[in-house]
Order: sequence, then structure tokens, then C-alpha cells
Amino acid sequence: MNIVYLNGEFLPKERAQVSVEDRGFLLSDGIYEVTPAYRGEFFCLDQHLNRLRCGLNALRIEYDPEELIEVHQKLLDINNLTDSEVAIVYLQITRGVAERVHYFPPADTIPTVYAFAKQFQRPSIESWLKGFRAVTVPDRRWSRVDIKSISLLPNVMAAQAAVDAGVDDALLVKNGIALEGAQNNIFVVKGGVLVTHPASQEILHGITRSVVIKIAHSLGIPIQERPIQVEELETVDELFFSGTTTEVRPTVALDGKPVGCGEVGTVSKAIYAAFRKKIGQPIDQDL
Ligand SMILES: Cc1ncc(COP(=O)(O)O)c(C=O)c1O
Repeated sequence: MNIVYLNGEFLPKERAQVSVEDRGFLLSDGIYEVTPAYRGEFFCLDQHLNRLRCGLNALRIEYDPEELIEVHQKLLDINNLTDSEVAIVYLQITRGVAERVHYFPPADTIPTVYAFAKQFQRPSIESWLKGFRAVTVPDRRWSRVDIKSISLLPNVMAAQAAVDAGVDDALLVKNGIALEGAQNNIFVVKGGVLVTHPASQEILHGITRSVVIKIAHSLGIPIQERPIQVEELETVDELFFSGTTTEVRPTVALDGKPVGCGEVGTVSKAIYAAFRKKIGQPIDQDL
């Protein structure tokens, strides 16, 4: 039985109900987080909850996420996910139930807090080593995508464009700049330098992105945070996406053309190997 958390209660998913007047349902007025747990240990939970706090402040939703540490752990325990290689907890907070008006509802409106846990299956190392494919898609999102809003329609359309093209990822492009993926950040490698878009309001400040940056520092890989022109993608040696459910995912073909020499590159491999070590799940074979 899948047990979820809703507004202070742990209950079977079938019994969890949200009002049709919830502002999340009517207006996408809310934010979310997805945190990974590796064999029962949460990874970067503080960073995820800090980003959540920033989002709550930016949207002026009054809620103290302190209780959520316990909620996360209990969801893993209660759903027998502590032995899972990878599990995730999805958490969503909306402004709550109120009469539908665009402006904020009365101050005593109580936010809706919902969370569930599930097992996550990462691709096999064999398929990882073959690499993944992506397409570029116009970025049609709003101008504060650093807020992890539940309003994801442009991301949904972009992800579907990737599915329609028969590939794995969508790379969002705005004003000639390759910003990030529909659900992940991007890194390219050019002449031995790792490059990623600066943590501005035009990308989500991925927790995995910051882990990758730390790993690059520790491996002595030079790193630049600067915009990446879309034409530059034709001359990069490597490209990979990073994210909680993406981890580190190398792209070997973009828009049907090979990235670099069309194979998973050495920097992507070194970073992924270090990432797996950091989460306590090293890869047995040499990459
Ligand atoms: C648009 C976007 N960028 C980047 C990320 C990666 O963020 P994180 O590494 O915190 O999962 C996500 C994750 O959902 C995302 O939706």
C-alpha cells in the first residue's frame, strides 16, 4: 500500500483528497521539490529544503518547512523504501483552498502540503555508456524559473517534444542561449573546460548542478559559469544533463547530429564516477 502525506496526516494514497478549490489545482499557485534518497539516506535534503524556503518566500506563502525533515524520513520508512538503491520524495506546497481570485486569498488560508515517496530506476550502466540523445526546443517559460513552480506547462510541452522526436531530453533555448533542460541543468565541455549557465533567474538552481560544480573543483576540472550560445553546441566536446532524477546523463547526439565525437566523453565519465562515489554507490566497472 502506498502511504502519502497530506496536511499533517499519513494515509493511503487512495484516501488522500484535495479540494477542487485548491489554488494549486485552479491556478498552479504553488511550488515543489524532489529529493533523492540512496539506500535510505537522503542526499542534500538541507539544500532542497533551503531552495523550498526561498520559493515560499518569493511567493509569500507562509509555511515553516521544519517538520518536513521528519515527513521525508517517515515516508521512506512507512513505504519500505529504505533499502531501495534510489528512491525519491516528491513534495508540493500550494497556497491552499480559497475562493478563486487571482490575488492572494485571506491571510488565514492554510497551505496544502502533499508528499509521496517512490522507488526510482536509473538506467543501466551499459545504456549510460552508450549515451543519450536530445533535441533543442524553444524555452517558452516565464521569467522566474529559479522558483520551482508547479506551473510546468512549457516544460511538459518540451518534454513531449523530446518524446515525439524519439529522444531522451529537451534542451531549452531562449534568445540564442542554451539554458537548461526541461527537467535538468546542462553542462558542456569545451577544450577541457566545463561550462554551465550562471545561476540566474533564467534557470533552476539545480542541487545536482551545484554538486557537479563541487566535484569538478575537487577533480581539478576548470569550470566557467557563463551563457552557452546555441551555435557553440556544434563545437563542444561533451554535453551532459544534471538533475535529481537525471543524475549525470551524457548526450551523444543533439538534433540528430553527434555531440563531439558522438561518444560519452572522459569528463562526463569522471564526473559521473565521482558522483556515484559521493552518493555511496560507486560503479564497479572502469568507465
Ligand atoms: C527545469 C529544471 N532544471 C533543473 C533541474 C535540476 O534540479 P535538481 O538538480 O535540484 O533536481 C530541474 C529538476 O526538476 C528542473 O525541473
